[in-house]
Amino acid sequence: MNARRVVTVAVLIMAEIPVAWAAAPVTPASVWREVQALQRQHAIMPGSTPYQWGSRTIDYYTVDLSNAATNRAMAAAGGIRKTTKYPNGALLVKENFNKDKKETGVTAMLKLSGFDAADRDWVMASYTPDGHVTGFGKIKSCISCHVMVKRADFVFAPPPRQLLSQAVWHAFFPAQRMSPAYVALLKKHPKAIVR
Ligand code: HEC
Repeated sequence: MNARRVVTVAVLIMAEIPVAWAAAPVTPASVWREVQALQRQHAIMPGSTPYQWGSRTIDYYTVDLSNAATNRAMAAAGGIRKTTKYPNGALLVKENFNKDKKETGVTAMLKLSGFDAADRDWVMASYTPDGHVTGFGKIKSCISCHVMVKRADFVFAPPPRQLLSQAVWHAFFPAQRMSPAYVALLKKHPKAIVR
């Protein structure tokens, strides 16, 4: 079996994992279990690169993960920048790592029909690396930044495809320092800065 065939088989198996959100209550623990499943599968989000540059020194590197419902929507639309609506059950995850590639935190967004229609029905969640929940539900701070990419249903394309200016990051996280690698990306890809 050559490598290409192995990849095809893995994708088919992932697509068949049932996502029974409607049947089970959505809780911090249930979302964390889905996050862990994506971590085990190394379900890297299409268009993203493991350990790509993050924006600040606390998320020097990031790894984006996504589930089958998300991937299907992206594939049908022709990629992340062209996706304007994610289906019920779509789950996206961003893992943050420091300079030593030690995990510092995990954020997740889950589409749950009827949860928060005004903000595109995303349940926002944040966890410590071992799954202790630090935020869950309709988190204003997350939404007020992700709304910058409303047309993409609140989902940012990973760096360097979309970047936020230093001013935006400072406004949201005044106490945190920008990663020099991200600042370099801003200089190199000025057209990628979301306005
Ligand atoms: C100041 C702006 C800002 C804030 C605040 C913010 N994010 Fe993000 N988020 C981003 C950017 C930019 C990306 C793309 C970077 C990447 O993909 O690594 C991103 C990526 C993500 C992703 C991966 C999917 C995607 O959109 O690329 C998730 C999941 C996520 N954020 C969840 C959250 C949660 C949960 C919170 C609140 C606890 C939050 N974010 C707060 C800007 C922000």
